[in-house]
Amino acid sequence: MKVGIFVETRFGERRVPLSPEGVRQLIQMGFTPILQAGSGAGAFYPDSAYQNAGAQIVPTAEAVWEEADMLLALHMPEQVDRFPTGKALLGILQAWRHEKEVQTLAEKKWTVFAMERVPRITRAQSMDVLSSMAALAGYKAVLLAATHYVGVFPMLTTAAGTLAPARVLVIGAGVAGLQAIATARRLGAQVEGYDIRPAAKEQVESLGAKFLPLTLDSSGEGTGGYARELTAEEQARQREALTTYVSRADIVITTAAVPGRSAPKLITPEMREAMKPGSVIVDLAAETGGNCAETQPGQTQVLGGVTLLAPLNLPATLPTHASQMLSRNFVETLRLFTAKDRPPRLHTEDEILRAMCLLWQGQPLLQPA
Ligand code: NAI
Repeated sequence: MKVGIFVETRFGERRVPLSPEGVRQLIQMGFTPILQAGSGAGAFYPDSAYQNAGAQIVPTAEAVWEEADMLLALHMPEQVDRFPTGKALLGILQAWRHEKEVQTLAEKKWTVFAMERVPRITRAQSMDVLSSMAALAGYKAVLLAATHYVGVFPMLTTAAGTLAPARVLVIGAGVAGLQAIATARRLGAQVEGYDIRPAAKEQVESLGAKFLPLTLDSSGEGTGGYARELTAEEQARQREALTTYVSRADIVITTAAVPGRSAPKLITPEMREAMKPGSVIVDLAAETGGNCAETQPGQTQVLGGVTLLAPLNLPATLPTHASQMLSRNFVETLRLFTAKDRPPRLHTEDEILRAMCLLWQGQPLLQPA
């Protein structure tokens, strides 16, 4: 099976789904990798490294679409209208935001697997692109906050006096939030964390941060380890309870998300106004609308002295390590299409592939009950 990679054009993308090492591994597994020239350039993987690993390099994206049996992608491709018929796509596709493209792929009889639907079971951990990328985003969010903050993170005792440590509040303690907490702790900040899933308390505390004692009447736990969407009334109560903690924080990092939904709005303009001038908010949920009412995705604003950052595609700012992690995630997923003594083939016999399959030769796959 020929797997193809082309230069991605969305969101200033600099990552690539396969590293040269990933190419080597896929060839051992019986795949034939084809790359558009320059696919790895943004991550500092030159074409020569891919060629040395055994990949075929072709000059254009069109050549990849024609030659490959399966395309690997980091976003829903913008060019599906120009795709040939009857091939396969494996990528981070966020189908709920790209109905038109999914429809086009269905009309073109494509088989489509969405990496973000990898179930959160132990066996699939090495395929979990959301976790890999969220960890990088959480780390980078703290570095961004530190560079925009008007003070220092650690307590500094110097001959010129003692500086108090920064107070960092992380709202949403999933993969990104926990990594943000760990990074802020490493920089010496005093850190608080909060999540609506009760399970997060222990994880926050194990990183040496304080878990905010806010309680909802019922658990915010949804299915598959994710949060559920709160009711409007619960959200209002949550915002009220968070107000004091937000106002006294120097840095607020928000990461709250509910799969398949717009991000919950947790920080109102009034809450931001109550923060000290010079403090910083990093809204990691900007891609799905943001956790702050005032967020403008991709923009940095200074509002009443508070810097509000809403970065998009943060993992792409760490392209080499992000690509190294993605490559492992893609290689391990592609391994599911292989079997001993037989060339790789498309199928949905594995429960992980069944969960990921959006279209099978153009038809929505009926999920087993
Ligand atoms: P996510 O990106 O969907 O959401 C981020 C965080 O926001 C979650 O912790 C969620 O509970 C929280 N959140 C949602 N609404 C909120 C609100 N109104 N207020 C405050 N917080 C809110 O989640 P992520 O980071 O992808 O994963 C969530 C959990 O899934 C992880 O912490 C972990 O327990 C589990 N997981 C399991 C894996 C496995 O077993 N293979 C792999 C990765 C994650």
